[in-house]
Amino acid sequence: MTFDLQSLLLDAAELAAIVLFILGLRFLSSPATARLGNRLAAVGMLIALVAVLYSTHALGWWAILAGIAIGAAIGFFSALKVKMTAMPQMVALFNGAGGGAAGLISSVEFFVSVHPYGWTISVSLVLSAIIGCLSAAGSIVAFLKLQELMTGRPITYKGQQVVNGIVALGIVVLGVMLIATQGVDPAWVFLAMLAAALLLGVFFVLPIGGADMPVVISLLNSFTGVAVAITGFELNSNLLIISGSLVGASGTLLTILMGKAMNRPLTNVLFGAFGSGGGMETSTSSGGQQNVRATSVEDVAVMLAYAQQVVVVPGYGMAVAQAQHSVRELADQLEKRGVAVKYAIHPVAGRMPGHMNVLLAEANVPYNQLYDMDDINPEFPRTDVALVIGANDVTNPAARNVASSPIYGMPILDVDKAQNVVVLKRSMRSGFAGIENPLYELPNCSMLFGDAKASVSALTAAVKAV
Ligand code: TAP
Repeated sequence: MTFDLQSLLLDAAELAAIVLFILGLRFLSSPATARLGNRLAAVGMLIALVAVLYSTHALGWWAILAGIAIGAAIGFFSALKVKMTAMPQMVALFNGAGGGAAGLISSVEFFVSVHPYGWTISVSLVLSAIIGCLSAAGSIVAFLKLQELMTGRPITYKGQQVVNGIVALGIVVLGVMLIATQGVDPAWVFLAMLAAALLLGVFFVLPIGGADMPVVISLLNSFTGVAVAITGFELNSNLLIISGSLVGASGTLLTILMGKAMNRPLTNVLFGAFGSGGGMETSTSSGGQQNVRATSVEDVAVMLAYAQQVVVVPGYGMAVAQAQHSVRELADQLEKRGVAVKYAIHPVAGRMPGHMNVLLAEANVPYNQLYDMDDINPEFPRTDVALVIGANDVTNPAARNVASSPIYGMPILDVDKAQNVVVLKRSMRSGFAGIENPLYELPNCSMLFGDAKASVSALTAAVKAV
């Protein structure tokens, strides 16, 4: 028996990378360990890259190194520069790159491999090309919508589903032809299939409203994972099969969780509902709500300074105002006075999964002060002040008791059960769901109008003066 040190080392490197990816995901599930998880996964990726480089004989090293350098530079600088509120569109672009890579690998395989190349490669090549291209094109449209380079409104027309169905059918026919002949077909069959998959990716995302994009991106993310896993069968790479499956599975789980937290089945996200009402930032003024009470910085400061427990409820407006650091300063000031401060985190507050956790972590808010919805809701009846900072839908009691409301059934933070509720927002405009919030008319609720950052800074100064 010969002892092949090189392949043993390669197997060990693949195994190490896979273990690091799995550990990375595990640690990402808690804010306290998320940074470590991210680093472990990055080390796993580095090991995987080195292993692939080491085992590659076909191409010049310089080409691969140049590719890595360009990709790493783009990734590094865009991650440094991106604003927190623009994170969903960056994720969309990176996800599109993953899907595009799977599509390109399949194209290279089609054009350079000797045909016929067997069933495994035939099936995996066709599937990864279709799913990869669909995900790439869909992600680019999602990016354009979120970046407002095209309208964020749903683009619909009569017979849209029929057109999409015809394109999908065309893809199936071309794919079956390619599989049946194991790639001996003329190149046009393959190219037509790629073009149709790209077209379907565009058509799939066009009718979805910009505000639903985070859910769609998560779904496309799982598509990319599946495409990459299938590419692993073409290239005979366990690393790609396992890491692609991890992305596919986590993307699918995230999509399901987001749907549940918004109380919306995926079909509702993909085929309309809020989206058709405009959603995202197209919110209208809640002109019907006259019975609201505006308050002043001084009054709220006194209320906060003499409270025993304050629960901060952050939402999308805190992200827009970039108020997280000011919020931390206010909390520090209150804690100095012996007030217990807790943060209530709704799973879909903001515009992307973990949005509030990331912002509060950036401001060094201690993780043990962050409470999930189920843990904080029983606390509200014994809370003196619920300080709602740029959150709207996630506090809307209509979700509990107005059966006709579009958000009926969505689990919410029970801020209305606190002794006092103070809502920091700029106007009476609605949030993402585009609906009025009856919370604002309750007798225990008052509104502190203004930009969240300016209001919180003013509150900190006023609390100091109390
Ligand atoms: P929203 O319901 O969207 O409300 C945000 C509020 O922030 C608005 O009413 C706005 O009122 C206020 N605001 C905006 N800029 C502000 C500023 N500079 N200063 C102070 N206030 C400001 O936010 P939410 O409660 O976080 O709920 C999130 C919504 O997004 C949910 O409906 C959820 O289903 C949806 N969604 C979430 C996700 C994820 S994964 N998080 C993904 C897709 C959709 P003014 O304009 O009056 O200031």
